[in-house]
Parts: sequence; C-alpha cells; structure tokens
Amino acid sequence: MHARAVAATTTALLGTVAAVFPVPGAVAAEADPPLVIAHRGASAYAPENTLAAVDKAAQLGFRWVENDVQRTKDGELVVIHDDSLARTTNVEEVFPGRAPWKVKDFTAAEIARLDAGSWFGSAYAGARVPTLQQYVRRVDHHHQKLLLEIKNPQLYPGIEKQTLKVLSNEGWLDRPHVAGRLIVQSFSADSVRTVHELKPAVKTGFLGTPSVAELPEYADFTDQINPSYRTVSLGYVSAVQAFTGPHGRPLEVFTWTVDDAATAERVAGYGVDGIISNKPDVVRAAVDGG
Ligand code: G3P
Ligand code: CA
Repeated sequence: MHARAVAATTTALLGTVAAVFPVPGAVAAEADPPLVIAHRGASAYAPENTLAAVDKAAQLGFRWVENDVQRTKDGELVVIHDDSLARTTNVEEVFPGRAPWKVKDFTAAEIARLDAGSWFGSAYAGARVPTLQQYVRRVDHHHQKLLLEIKNPQLYPGIEKQTLKVLSNEGWLDRPHVAGRLIVQSFSADSVRTVHELKPAVKTGFLGTPSVAELPEYADFTDQINPSYRTVSLGYVSAVQAFTGPHGRPLEVFTWTVDDAATAERVAGYGVDGIISNKPDVVRAAVDGG
C-alpha cells in the first residue's frame, strides 16, 4: 500500500482507537493532503479554458491549473475543450453558415474574433479563446503549474511535437518547469507515449482506468494514471502506486472531476495524489490541499 493510503488508513484507525481509548498527548499520523488542480481553470467561477479562469484560480490561491489543447485550421494551438466552438463561444452568430463549427475548420484569426465569455456570464463578455502561447504566459505570470491535456490528438497529427515546441519556445521545458511545474496528459495512450519518447524528461499522465494487468506496460511511458472518480477505489489507487514510473518514482493518481466535499473526502481516503476540480475551493476545504 502507498504511504499516503497507509497514512490515511492509519489516521482513520488511530482516530477510532483514540475515541475509545484516549491517550493524553497522542498524535495520529497525518497524511499529506492531495494536490488540488483547477479544472479548465477555476471553471465553476469563470469561463472554462480562458485566461479569466486562470486568473480566478490564482485569485483563489491555486497553484495547479488544467487545460485542453487543440489546433486551428492554419496550425495554431489553442486552448478549448470541445472539438466544436459552438458550446463555449458565439461562433454560431459570427459564422452562421459554418456548422458544425469545428475548431479544426477555423483559422486562428477567425477564432480570435469570438466571444468565449458571454455564454458563461455577462461579466466575462469579450473573453477570448486563448492560444497555447497566451495561456502558458498567463500561467507563468501567476507562478502557477500546468496540467496540459492534449485533446482529441487523433484529429491533429503531430500535435505532440508541436505542443512541446510551443512549451520549449516559452521556456516551459527548462529544468525548473520540467522538474515540478508541468505534466502533459491525454486520453490517448499513443499520444502520451509519443510525448514521453520525444521529451523523456517531461512528466506525463494517462487519462483513464487501465486494468491492473495492463499497468506494467503503462509504467514504461507515463508517470500518472488519472481516472474518473467514478472508477477509483482504495485497491486500485494502491495498485497503481505500487508501480514505478519512467522517472523511477511511484506512479501517481490524479482523479477527476470532483466538485463536492463528500466525494473529495472519499477519494482522498483512497490516497490519491491529486484531485482535479471545477470547484477547487470546495475540494480544498474538504481535504486541506492546495
Ligand atoms: O483532467 C481531467 C479531465 O479534464 C478529463 O476530462 O473531458 O474534462 O477533459 P475532460
Ligand atoms: Ca481536460
């Protein structure tokens, strides 16, 4: 069992024992709380994947933000979750004849015209879909850390190399960033493996819940296994953390997307290393991480 889960279990057991047999001066072992990562920025409070959502996460005191990276028709990397612009921008008004409004069918200049904030609230009218360059500059400005998701990589051949190039150009592949401020994740194992092969120093995460039998293969190229909270258990987290990843450390588990205190407490009790949340303040209050 991983140290964090051992500590969590020990704390629970000691708490039970102390309640029955109180010992003056006795202090239970404390587990480190999991990291809390602001999902698409602090996206319950500002429009997802915008600079405003990064700012909101910083304002709330969160060091880690998560985002989603895709590519425009003319090859610019932009930060947006869906493969269509329709849900989170006013693209249907600005370009009514261009259904289904796929990110890959619009140029960067066209996307830069769109309002990516009004759908969320009038206070955010005029927010834009940021380029990856703009996004990492804002994250750096706040001295934050980035959990970068390569989204839909099957639509964008070569996006791994291109993402690493932008990160390199922006100084995000220097030693301090790589050592503790950057993780690149994807639902595509091929994409994660490609990132690892191109830049072995970069910490990586696989989004999903591979079987325990598959974990030895994953441990060759990913530092994290990041499952939905609906699929995690104490046993699964412990099984993952028993493997050693490509950088010689135990595999980690960041689970998503947890927005309520009860679920946060439950997954923290399983010993997860990180919790990804649209409401990071709610999770922090529940688990005391940050
Ligand atoms: O970081 C985990 C989470 O972002 C994965 O799901 O769909 O929100 O990108 P999704
Ligand atoms: Ca994501």
